[in-house]
Amino acid sequence: MAKILIIGSSTMDLVVTSSKRPGAGETVLGESFTTVPGGKGANQAVAAARLGADVTMIGRVGDDQFGQQILRNFEENHVHIGYVKPVTHMESGTAHIILAEGDNSIIMVKAANNEVTPAYVEEALDVIRSSDMVLVQQEIPAETVVYVSEMCAKYQIPFLFNPAPAREVEASVIENATYITPNEHEAAIMFKDLSLQEALRKYPNKLFVTEGSNGVRFFDGEQEVVVPTYKVEAVDTTGAGDTFNAAFAVALAEGKSLADSVKFANRAASLSVTKFGAQGGMPTRREVEEQL
Ligand code: RIB
Ligand code: NA
Repeated sequence: MAKILIIGSSTMDLVVTSSKRPGAGETVLGESFTTVPGGKGANQAVAAARLGADVTMIGRVGDDQFGQQILRNFEENHVHIGYVKPVTHMESGTAHIILAEGDNSIIMVKAANNEVTPAYVEEALDVIRSSDMVLVQQEIPAETVVYVSEMCAKYQIPFLFNPAPAREVEASVIENATYITPNEHEAAIMFKDLSLQEALRKYPNKLFVTEGSNGVRFFDGEQEVVVPTYKVEAVDTTGAGDTFNAAFAVALAEGKSLADSVKFANRAASLSVTKFGAQGGMPTRREVEEQL
């Protein structure tokens, strides 16, 4: 069993479906409102656990109702939460999601996730040192990402950096990462001075750019490779990227080749979009393998 450590965010997702996305100053009538657990870190933890990994989460919730629901959801999905501690007098992170016109728009409020600080993560250094793979996203403070990248480099722990949502990234994080998985927009922001082609060539077998339904692009040292995705009827694409990253981490930690790991991750992500909610369609190991 691969030991996967996720250091990242957890939220309650407040999801509205509507036939139309409102413009500035506009009010529209929506169709439904649902709350489901989310957050890029939590989503990746749940996805990795469903795929059969031994998953530990380092994160924070608020001391509110959402926090309790988030913790319960981790437990139901067999994620170890000894390092997901509530912050007193603080709200849990929330993501305000509009599903309209076949796509989502999201405002994420970090709240308790701001307390995933370097000092907080340092308390769990032993867990980092005993992991097969560490996964980090960008809904936690930037200095924590820097700190984790340094610790992973120091102890030679494979470090998968998912630079979502987009923000500028410290050069040292890019150098310390073993694998980096931006989408095209995130790649453009983190590699400002390079074209996509140049960035791919600079980081062979390390930079994997996810291009939605086009597939995943990387440079294998000799040529650019595009691993295609699977065509499915999408109900809700929220969390597809998280499922991809979790499955990629699990496959790599188990020693699968790069190309096979991307293929496995693409399959898992394609299944995840067939149900409502970020975690709704996240497949089990068996469901992915049956369809590979
Ligand atoms: O990646 C999807 C996640 O991003 C959602 O679950 C939402 O919480 C946002 O943060
Ligand atoms: Na889904």
